[in-house]
Amino acid sequence: MEKVQQLIEESKVRNRVSELALDISKHLDKITVICVLKGAIVFCSDLIRELSRNNVKVELDFARAKSYRGTESTGKVEIEFHGDVTGKNILLVDDIIDTGRTIKILKEYFIQNNAGSVKVCSLLDKPSRRVVNISADFTGFKVPDTFVVGYGIDYNEHYRELPYIGELILD
Ligand code: IMP
Ligand code: MG
Repeated sequence: MEKVQQLIEESKVRNRVSELALDISKHLDKITVICVLKGAIVFCSDLIRELSRNNVKVELDFARAKSYRGTESTGKVEIEFHGDVTGKNILLVDDIIDTGRTIKILKEYFIQNNAGSVKVCSLLDKPSRRVVNISADFTGFKVPDTFVVGYGIDYNEHYRELPYIGELILD
């Protein structure tokens, strides 16, 4: 059976989300937040409320990017998005940048669909795993090359509801 070991406690996550919102508000005052489903849902819902405290006007939309099976990256990314981003300043909000393939393809997709600008905010970053050249404009925490869960992030659809970020231990 697998278990989860706490990596970043709830209060640290909360403080960092506030700091990120403050940082974002120094660069942007009116944005279309695109939450990358499903992993970013918890982070994004906290982030937009922190953005509102910093007087950032937010429109919210969702995109779906599927790239993972279990703990193995397939390298293939499917995008699902139904909105219109023409001329809008987009903030892509994702849970974790691993190889970087997903966020790179998403960013290119919104640029090709005539967004005014596209910036990326990721809760977590695993820089040691990168295979494509991309980085987030706003990053919550750098994490080592371990499989993380919680605060929206899953392992085969489990553990999204955890209020903290944990490391999955398989045995
Ligand atoms: P990338 O395309 O390799 O950067 O993969 C990004 C996506 O893979 C993330 O948005 C997550 O949905 C998923 N992912 C990457 N690392 C982890 C992890 O440690 N735990 C759970 N999901 C992960
Ligand atoms: Mg994701």
